[in-house]
Amino acid sequence: MGITIASRESTERGRFPLDRPRRLRRTTAIRALVQEHRISPSDLILPLFVCEGTDIQRPISSMPGQYNWSIDRLVPEVAHLGKLGIHAVMLFGIPDTKDDCGSDNFDPEGIVPRAIRAIKDANPEMIVISDMCFCEYTDHGHCGLINIPESAHFDAGLPHGYLLNDPSLELLARASVVHAEAGADMIAPSAMLDGQVGAIRSVLDETGFEHIPVMAYAAKFASGFYGPFREAAQSAPSFGDRKQYQMDPANRREAMREAELDVAEGADIIMVKPAMPYLDIVSDLRAAFDLPIAAYQVSGEYAMLHAAAANGWIDLQRCAMESLIGIKRAGADMILTYFAKDVADWCNG
Ligand code: PBG
Repeated sequence: MGITIASRESTERGRFPLDRPRRLRRTTAIRALVQEHRISPSDLILPLFVCEGTDIQRPISSMPGQYNWSIDRLVPEVAHLGKLGIHAVMLFGIPDTKDDCGSDNFDPEGIVPRAIRAIKDANPEMIVISDMCFCEYTDHGHCGLINIPESAHFDAGLPHGYLLNDPSLELLARASVVHAEAGADMIAPSAMLDGQVGAIRSVLDETGFEHIPVMAYAAKFASGFYGPFREAAQSAPSFGDRKQYQMDPANRREAMREAELDVAEGADIIMVKPAMPYLDIVSDLRAAFDLPIAAYQVSGEYAMLHAAAANGWIDLQRCAMESLIGIKRAGADMILTYFAKDVADWCNG
């Protein structure tokens, strides 16, 4: 009964495959033990749109379940979100009147400063983050001052239609202080102007707001996925596009450079936006920095999932959760998502 080649082969065959990862997938409980990432409502930030008027909860057609809220209706909604376990919201303002410099954004009586005060008065625990940009407040819909011959800030040495960088930084800084004075817990510059993080950090420090963090939209791409948002916030540019300041979707190395600049300027959190088509960027930044990383699952990502689900082509809850876990797996610590309230409902059963 010597060991034959045949039996040795059969022993090896019997042990094949040596590794069986499926052992740890057999039951729900085992899968939970070995799960590498989880979604909890406390990781999520819900973007909210606030408009003038009273008793308004106007549906946004391309974003089912999302609304334009008047302040009086928004305040109890935020209280409800807090009870569901959502601890952070980001505000976008829709003013009634717009002008060439977006003055509603730095008016202490502007829509967002008033909304911040009302929310914080009623819900002091809620983290209120201000999206710091001008596109919702300017009549031309661009994210700062535009170089137009008839305007007060015209610079004949720069191209017509150019988004003026440094004068716009002054306005971003001014609005940041107004929002901080109103009670904002965090400022999130999203204009993609050069130096925006440093400008905001230094003005906050000078005005007694050293404790207010800056969440930098570090890598914000010029994306078609912002379409539904521009309907929701009425912020589409009236001419041209945002490609002279937002990043080219083709560029990966440049995202690293943008993030390095924001970190050097004092960003506390760096964000990638949109999320799903840019998970390589999230992963790159995760590997390169120890700072918390945020990813913004934008309006078009939300609309796409809803549209497919409405057609019966995908299961909304399953695919929304899968999209969010993918963003966490890529390296995001927190996610800005319009699904935040749904996730809280789903998690609470
Ligand atoms: C700029 C801003 C935009 C979004 C967030 N902040 C629009 C843009 O850059 O055109 C888009 C968010 C989304 O699509 O959900 N204030």
